[in-house]
Amino acid sequence: MYSREVIEEVLSKTDIVDLVSSYVKLKRSGSSYMGLCPFHNEKSPSFSVSGQKQLYHCFGCGKGGNAITFVMEYENYTFLEAVEMLATKAGVALPEQKYSYEDRKDKDIKTKLLEINKIAATYYYHCLKSEQGISGLNYLSGKRGLDDKTITNYGLGFAPISSGGLYKLLKEKGYTDDILKESGLFTYDAKVHEKFWNRVIFPIMDVNNKVIGFGGRVMGDAKPKYLNSPETKLFDKSRNLYGLNVARSSRKGNMIICEGYMDVISLHQAGFTQAVASLGTALTPGHARLLKRYTDTVLITYDSDEAGTKAALRAIPLLAEVGLNTKVINMKPYKDPDEFIKALGADAFQERIDKATNSFMFEVSIVEKRYNRSDPAEETAFEKEVANMFLRFSEKLERDNYIKAVCNSFVIPLEGMQMMVANLGNKMGIVNGAKYNASEPSTSAPKKKIESGVRQAEKLLLTWLINDVSIIDKISNVIKPEDFIDPLLNSVATKLYDQIKMGNPNPALIVGDYTDESDAAIVASLFSSDLDENLSKQERERALNDIVRKVKKNSLDTEFNTVTDAIRMQEIIKEQQKLNEINIRL
Ligand code: UTP
Ligand code: MN
Repeated sequence: MYSREVIEEVLSKTDIVDLVSSYVKLKRSGSSYMGLCPFHNEKSPSFSVSGQKQLYHCFGCGKGGNAITFVMEYENYTFLEAVEMLATKAGVALPEQKYSYEDRKDKDIKTKLLEINKIAATYYYHCLKSEQGISGLNYLSGKRGLDDKTITNYGLGFAPISSGGLYKLLKEKGYTDDILKESGLFTYDAKVHEKFWNRVIFPIMDVNNKVIGFGGRVMGDAKPKYLNSPETKLFDKSRNLYGLNVARSSRKGNMIICEGYMDVISLHQAGFTQAVASLGTALTPGHARLLKRYTDTVLITYDSDEAGTKAALRAIPLLAEVGLNTKVINMKPYKDPDEFIKALGADAFQERIDKATNSFMFEVSIVEKRYNRSDPAEETAFEKEVANMFLRFSEKLERDNYIKAVCNSFVIPLEGMQMMVANLGNKMGIVNGAKYNASEPSTSAPKKKIESGVRQAEKLLLTWLINDVSIIDKISNVIKPEDFIDPLLNSVATKLYDQIKMGNPNPALIVGDYTDESDAAIVASLFSSDLDENLSKQERERALNDIVRKVKKNSLDTEFNTVTDAIRMQEIIKEQQKLNEINIRL
């Protein structure tokens, strides 16, 4: 973690207008700049950037924040990555992070492994482009249909037959066998062997484009078809997805998950840059969480054989667990996306994306295959199995919608199914009574509350303060930061009062304190709003007094409800009676 001072320096040496301009076309509009919001689809600009406040805010989708959150959001960086990127841009030297001895040793090993991988990737790439790589190049561009740009972008390479070259190169550069052993590029027995030879090479990159491992494919039918780097200190298969370095900034509104290296590359080449693959392993909860960082919707395009279907059925609950909305793409009659696109092209694949099946409906269709539905006993068993599946939806509305959709497309009598689900639910104690209780607790996220008038008043008062810091002198004997009852606004008020007292209000720095995305957006929006300038002084004065009274009244009422001290209670009552006497002059 960097200190507040460092963050402040990075922010002060970054101009948000310049920064955002390098991603979004901005036009001056009054005291700020407007452009098309990069975080949602829109045709007329509602994305505003203020150089004075060093904040951005979208009036359309509500996203907002400072330079750091912008980079986090746009590049999908973590906080530290965003700070590091901006520091580099602004020429701010970041202090060395402090590490324990073990951490340092580990970091040294990782740094060396990264160097080694980079050297290896470059070596394989040059081999592909040299005479000894002709067979590899023919395979990739001829048989697999990859163009030069794709080969370069994905750093594809070739490990030659006459092996030994990579080992020699790395030894010449001074790497010891101890570290080379850890790289996974060599096998050590009586002699040292290179793991990859006579294969085309797919470097595996992490989200920051660092090479963390390799996959190598034979060019014919030999086995194994693919060889992969073993897990190393750098390469954790359950936490990395092939292609994520590209897909993470694809902004397609979804991610496509497929099985293989070639599927990802073909999809990207055809314009579906949102494709990723798990690396020769089944999807893990770690992968699901990783995907959730970048999207809300995942489209599964696993192979259309039995193994692929099984893998999809295993992946669906993992994706649902982290709250991802999941659909399944049908690629029949082709085996995988690579073959599909080669045969039918990108437009046909887009059609399949548009027609992707909701993952629950997909699961039902797989269950259906196990039954002969023309036999009444089997039909009943099928319907019972499906009825059980509905019980995973704890929310009545969602469950009802699924029951309706499934009954409709699988031709199951609706009323019968509804009764069966209700009975099962009762038996399992999921719901009370014969009918579902409308107010049953839901496990899904709470719906947005309608904003209370008080919270709105607290927000307005903060907007007012940031737009005209001089009013703090006029209101500070009535309103203290403690008077802001909403926890988020209370903490903003505390910071803002402090900053104004110190003489340098800095909204961008305050926004930076909120690591929760939605908190940061709320704070940015209240700092980005302007006051209505068409009001007369008198009208403004009346408005301000209304707001101040409202905030104060709520603060007193809230305290009154919890206070136990009789003397304080008396004081509160007195203050409540004097609320109407508040009269602030602008
Ligand atoms: P597939 O066998 O489905 O191959 O393996 P593919 O992706 O269609 O490969 P091409 O099109 O024939 O080149 C899917 C993924 O499983 C892993 C690889 O990551 C591969 O991309 N795999 C497969 C291995 O790790 N080892 C193997 O021997 C085979
Ligand atoms: Mn394939």
